[in-house]
Amino acid sequence: MQKIKFDFNNIFDFSVGKEHGVQEQDLTESLNFVKKAHEHLVKLTENARVRIKLGLEWTQLPYQNKTIIKEIQNLGNEIAGKYKNVIFLGIGGSYLGLKAAQDALLEPYYNEFSILRKKGAKIYFCGNNLDPNTLHALLKNLNPKKTLTVVISKSGETTETKAAFMVVEAWLKKTIGIKYGRQFITITDPESGSLREKTKKEQEKDKLSFRNMPLLKGVGGRFSEFNAGLLHLAIAGINIQEVLDGAGQMAKQCSEVDIFKNPALMYAALHTILYQKKRKNIAVIMPFCEALKSTADWYIQLLAESLGKKYARKIETDDNGIENWLQDKNRILNTGRTPIAAVGTGDLHSIQQNNIEGENNKVVTFIKIEKFKKEIKIPGKNDILAGKGFSELMNLAQEATEWALVQEKRPNCAIIMPEVSPFYWGALLFFFEIATAFEGELLDINAFDQPGVEGYKNYIYCKLKKPGIPESILQEVNNHPLVKEPKFIL
Ligand code: PA5
Repeated sequence: MQKIKFDFNNIFDFSVGKEHGVQEQDLTESLNFVKKAHEHLVKLTENARVRIKLGLEWTQLPYQNKTIIKEIQNLGNEIAGKYKNVIFLGIGGSYLGLKAAQDALLEPYYNEFSILRKKGAKIYFCGNNLDPNTLHALLKNLNPKKTLTVVISKSGETTETKAAFMVVEAWLKKTIGIKYGRQFITITDPESGSLREKTKKEQEKDKLSFRNMPLLKGVGGRFSEFNAGLLHLAIAGINIQEVLDGAGQMAKQCSEVDIFKNPALMYAALHTILYQKKRKNIAVIMPFCEALKSTADWYIQLLAESLGKKYARKIETDDNGIENWLQDKNRILNTGRTPIAAVGTGDLHSIQQNNIEGENNKVVTFIKIEKFKKEIKIPGKNDILAGKGFSELMNLAQEATEWALVQEKRPNCAIIMPEVSPFYWGALLFFFEIATAFEGELLDINAFDQPGVEGYKNYIYCKLKKPGIPESILQEVNNHPLVKEPKFIL
């Protein structure tokens, strides 16, 4: 089995000059610190209690029980054969990984052509936005009798997903009647949240309704594709075990202490140097593969929510050596690279102009595919394009983009995938997850929480008068209204 490779030549000064490039000496100087970050993370993942407490249980997902995986795969097959449509409701980590898998691993136009679905169900996503148009269009055009809905929400409380769920529930009830719950599957926390409560209540009434899959403790949303996303993989007919095996291969590689054998550690170390020493605060992730656009979107969430943090981490260790992570309110960092997704070759006619001539504050990370699933040869004779393959041109364009960036002294690097298969896609996701965790260590922040997302949620909850909102939050919202001067609105 081949491996994903990480080519970081164009990050160094010999490619992009001293002002913008990393010198080998910078890397050498950081090695002690990087080694400590690696050791710390490995130590944390060795203890199940710590993993669950700090949100590191995702590191174990490649090694799930094969019998359970088989059962999920079978359930997916059964659903795909029984229903015409499956709607997945979820947002953030309960959506982006699924969408990434769907676009990367299924044929393009999967929903449009039944031959591509091998007669399986069409798969739709909703509940990832409060825009009424999408859900309206979906429910207006789908037949409720032939539709199964899978609701994914770890907390079971997220407004977007909950609102969509309530609408779909009413839609199903209206046509199906009392047994409508048999067309719902819920994927949520095993104990808490209103979706779990609803599931329990409905199951007491009818055992066959609201079938459910518990999410694992200690796996945060954006690290949960190999948990929350499994049923989706199965319904889509993707071999789950292959995805997990790929993640496992990458996990093994990234357990290496030697940075020259550990691509995720190298990625994290170099990006941290570029961020801290060369002021490269924009991360452009640019797959040269249309099917990986949603994977780039998934990485945006991973990077932004994990590393975009106000406070440094304060570690408290109890008598048993178990760590507790707090926000160090005395150390305001406002740290984290800003991620942007672009796709080759389409965005060469768009953001690339800014990448080349705009502010030199970016690092472009390419994802390059060695072998595409299909090839198209261009017909004709009297043209430079005649006889060329699309994938040959794609890789030429990727190489040309690297070259153009290097000419303008713009650091860049490439993750090279042998092909976009379930195995390598699983490896790719795990690479990004572990690299993000390493980066969190190097920045000394908690990469597994997202306190910044609470602000907008609290505001909505206050305005909607959600019961149980703490007085301090109510006061914060009510005492700081948005100021809207009419003269500043034209
Ligand atoms: O990474 C995270 O934890 C978040 O992005 C969540 O996935 C997102 O907010 C959705 O949450 P939930 O699954 O609880 O509805």
